[in-house]
Amino acid sequence: MKKGTDPLMRVANTYGTPLYVYEQSVIEEQCQKLLKHFPGVAFHYAMKANSNPEILKVIRKQGIGVEAVSLGELSLARSVGFKKKDTSFTCASLTEKELCEAASTGARVHLDSLTQLEAWGRNGLGREVSLRLNQGIGAGHHAHVITGGPHSKFGITLKDIPEAKRIAKKHNLIVTGIQQHIGSNVLSVDIFVKAMRTLLKTAETFPELTHVDFGGGLGVPYTPGEKPLALQRVGKEFVGMAKAFKKKLGRGVSFAMEPGRFVVAESGSLLVSVVDLKETSAHLFVGVNSGFNQLIRHAMYGSYHPIENLSRTQGPKTVATIAGNVCESGDLFAVDRGMVRPEVEDVLAIRNAGAYGFSMASNFNMHALPQEVLVSSTGRVKDISFSPSSYAL
Ligand code: LLP
Repeated sequence: MKKGTDPLMRVANTYGTPLYVYEQSVIEEQCQKLLKHFPGVAFHYAMKANSNPEILKVIRKQGIGVEAVSLGELSLARSVGFKKKDTSFTCASLTEKELCEAASTGARVHLDSLTQLEAWGRNGLGREVSLRLNQGIGAGHHAHVITGGPHSKFGITLKDIPEAKRIAKKHNLIVTGIQQHIGSNVLSVDIFVKAMRTLLKTAETFPELTHVDFGGGLGVPYTPGEKPLALQRVGKEFVGMAKAFKKKLGRGVSFAMEPGRFVVAESGSLLVSVVDLKETSAHLFVGVNSGFNQLIRHAMYGSYHPIENLSRTQGPKTVATIAGNVCESGDLFAVDRGMVRPEVEDVLAIRNAGAYGFSMASNFNMHALPQEVLVSSTGRVKDISFSPSSYAL
């Protein structure tokens, strides 16, 4: 039995570490915030952020749909009860076969390129099409996740819209939807509003449009003192723009958004145990029984995650580098972080790990995937461990 009074210690003692723990109430609250501030918007949760089936069920019960990016995700979404009308699909670099299969599910497919549009028409996949656009506006916490602008592989650029219209006409298709996604973990109201406004301007050039999807990207704070996104302000701006847009058009259109991180990031912690301590002339390395194969965000983007020692709140202060058990020097969770000096057997909670944590995990170095549990608002803990390989198509 490991020491510590934090309620998560009980969970760590029952299930062991490494362990992802998710709080259901946080997910529900985040969903409610979205529904409150964006009235009338259809939300499609970007399930790449966390595709645990039990988490998907919690989100579905909040009246939220789903956004998928692969046949595996589409299959999993269907298996947990998402209806085709509540499912959207976007993917770059799709094979023609995958595109045909995705279309056959009845999900709303946002076509990412002229090649996809051409293949859609050639295969007679449906008269109505939706286009993913790259309007040159991009944002995000790291270059890897900025999905608008000339350096992004995603979407049909504005200069290609005339060609898209020509291909659509050739195949007797009508463009009824447009979508964009500018990037991930955006905390600036202004960028969101600018991207939305620009998409609505572009929407005016598609006379048969019935659907506009603004994508995801709503950010959450990670570093101490970082300000949360002023969601209410984005919502207010959106309501004003949507009203003016409908008035100008003289008819209604439906709106959608695809947040992933915002829904789940703050619900999750990765619990790991300290197994080793080592000092070099440069760092105090605190070795833990997990690695970037279980939470890759620091190694891949240099991302900051708050780390709390659940076993020890008092003691000598130090500056520690939290290192994993994967055979690479970049396998770190934090570098030179000020904290109470951890000791072997302490349990550390790596916070804000609910999004792009387990969903990006792998068996690298032949380590098992971590277990996952869901804590209900009454404190009931449910083992929701999941093996994604059974869905990968
Ligand atoms: N829609 C599309 C088309 C997307 O590509 C994404 C995310 C989303 C929606 C949801 O974005 P969100 O609301 O979660 O920001 N692994 C990275 C994030 C990659 C996001 C990729 N696309 C990370 O850990 O920061």
